[in-house]
Amino acid sequence: MENIFLVFLLIFHGGFSAVTRVHIHVNEKKRWGEAQIYCRQNYNDLSTISSTEENLRLQTMLGAIDNHAWIGMYRNGTVLDQFIWSDGDLKTNFYQWKREQPDGKSKSQHCVEVDGIGWADYGCDEVLPFFYVVFQDIRFLSLKHSYV
Ligand SMILES: *[C@@H]1O[C@H](CO)[C@@H](O)[C@H](O)[C@H]1NC(C)=O
Repeated sequence: MENIFLVFLLIFHGGFSAVTRVHIHVNEKKRWGEAQIYCRQNYNDLSTISSTEENLRLQTMLGAIDNHAWIGMYRNGTVLDQFIWSDGDLKTNFYQWKREQPDGKSKSQHCVEVDGIGWADYGCDEVLPFFYVVFQDIRFLSLKHSYV
């Protein structure tokens, strides 16, 4: 069904509790919109990436430099130069575009994929594996998860 590789990132709130943002790679190809629906129905949403470290972890999970996967970023349908996150996270202004990307505004490449090098805009009707994110309180993390 789906291959799940689990992982990481600690977000500390006020030094008291720790919420873990867990990214999961689903090795099942879907269109971006289908992947978004799947993530929202079953989990939380497509992954938001907000730091170099987090991005590197996702790239590592891809396993090979030319493996591609959807992340939660897409073009604002009104302002095409503006990219927004599926989960509504407006705080991050982190981007990891590959050289000469994004280049698909006029080619209707309105969704964003990641590979081992970086991000690129890509046609939303292409089918790719994808990353979704869930949030877990660190106190409830299960040891059956494998951490990269
Ligand atoms: C897209 O941009 C417009 C104009 O700035 C804004 O009003 C709208 O809320 C944006 N859409 C999303 C989904 O963020």
